[in-house]
Amino acid sequence: MFRTSARKESEVIAVVGGQWGDEGKGKIVDYLSADADVVIRSQGGDNAGHTVSNDLGKFALHLVPAGIFNPKTVNIIGAGVALNPKTLLKEIAELEARGVSAQNLRISPKAHLAFDYHLFLDRAQEDGRGEKKIGTTKRGIGPTYMDKAERIGLQARMLRNPDKCLQELRSVLSKKAKIFSGSAIPDEFKAEYYEGLIREAAEKFGKIIVDTEPIVHEHLGRGAKFVIEGAHGALLDLDHGTYPKVTASNSTVGGLLVGAGMPPLRLTRVVGVFKAYQTRVGEGGMPTELKNEQGDLIRERGHEYGTTTGRPRRVGFFDSVAAQYAHEINGFTDIAITKLDTLSGAGNIKICSGYKCKGQAVERFQTDDEFLIQCEPVYGGEFDGWNENISSAKNFDDLPESARQYCNAIMKAFTGAEMRFLGIGEKRSDLIECEQ
Ligand code: IMP
Ligand code: MG
Repeated sequence: MFRTSARKESEVIAVVGGQWGDEGKGKIVDYLSADADVVIRSQGGDNAGHTVSNDLGKFALHLVPAGIFNPKTVNIIGAGVALNPKTLLKEIAELEARGVSAQNLRISPKAHLAFDYHLFLDRAQEDGRGEKKIGTTKRGIGPTYMDKAERIGLQARMLRNPDKCLQELRSVLSKKAKIFSGSAIPDEFKAEYYEGLIREAAEKFGKIIVDTEPIVHEHLGRGAKFVIEGAHGALLDLDHGTYPKVTASNSTVGGLLVGAGMPPLRLTRVVGVFKAYQTRVGEGGMPTELKNEQGDLIRERGHEYGTTTGRPRRVGFFDSVAAQYAHEINGFTDIAITKLDTLSGAGNIKICSGYKCKGQAVERFQTDDEFLIQCEPVYGGEFDGWNENISSAKNFDDLPESARQYCNAIMKAFTGAEMRFLGIGEKRSDLIECEQ
């Protein structure tokens, strides 16, 4: 025995997107948060958009953790987050206007601040990439993490002292502005531009920027339930995704733990969230992409337009090669299959079980985007589909036979993991929790 005293075990659940983001993590986090003590958003920034539909209405969250709807839950924006104070002010104002209090929100002093100059640089970098563009959300996320790695970023703690924050900003911007040598310096590179924002953010958040480690530690000590909310998806992870067509943070489970400041051995479950099909926004390989009427139909029925940018999402069949890879690097214990209802009446559906590249069979997922882009899907399963409206199903057994077969076929990618949730509609209640 390693333990010396009896202790009530905490439940620490990480919710990870298994594909290219937009898997419906918001819905799963919202459900799991209903009785969670602490919800932590741990990486990424307002490039993420989590749609949550509950008794209070429909919300698009970008920075605030989805546990905000439960007045008893402590919600933490963790150290790994790229925090745009302008977005957070707006998001909190919108929540408050709709009767949702943000009084249980806490911000790690270590989160990095994203400012308009990061957005300016993101736009300029994308324009400069030409054909190699990534299709970023232009929220300045890459440049914010670049500053963090260069060790010139401003951490959220700076907002506790607005004068000092402005002074630091002035020093950083005087160096950054050198790129405009000889030409006019845009306003975004002048500290004065940020004065109003910094004073307002300091006023609004100053008191909630507190060390989050004692909150985590104390709750772990008394057996609390934690949900760590991942943003984006495993295939967009900076290290493990389809580089360079990836985001700038680690969106796999290891990144979530670092960003949350959670001791790794306290993790108890890893929930992988997968759409019953697949979508991708931005550039990069996607072997199962459907550039046909069926793809258009699924896009319309599933409202597959970006929460953050409004861009139409690319739609494709479920890729079990990619899913297996996501499972290898995240070790899912539980799987949520979302938006199964979108496939009702969508015709025959297929599951990709391998790729072919220039006539050669490819069995494993390829993170080299230049290679992935040349891969053609090989379909190992074809299903008749179903036409019934499935949103009133209460149990797995209530689903049409074809839908059950389809879910069971998807689960073959996840050796050792359980099918835990099935999303069958937009509302919080449109979720089947499968028996364990
Ligand atoms: P960035 O994160 O804005 O730098 O964009 C990098 C890539 O990640 C682009 O392809 C974006 O479309 C994609 N991306 C970033 N965040 C999300 C997300 O939350 N959902 C889906 N795609 C995302
Ligand atoms: Mg999203």
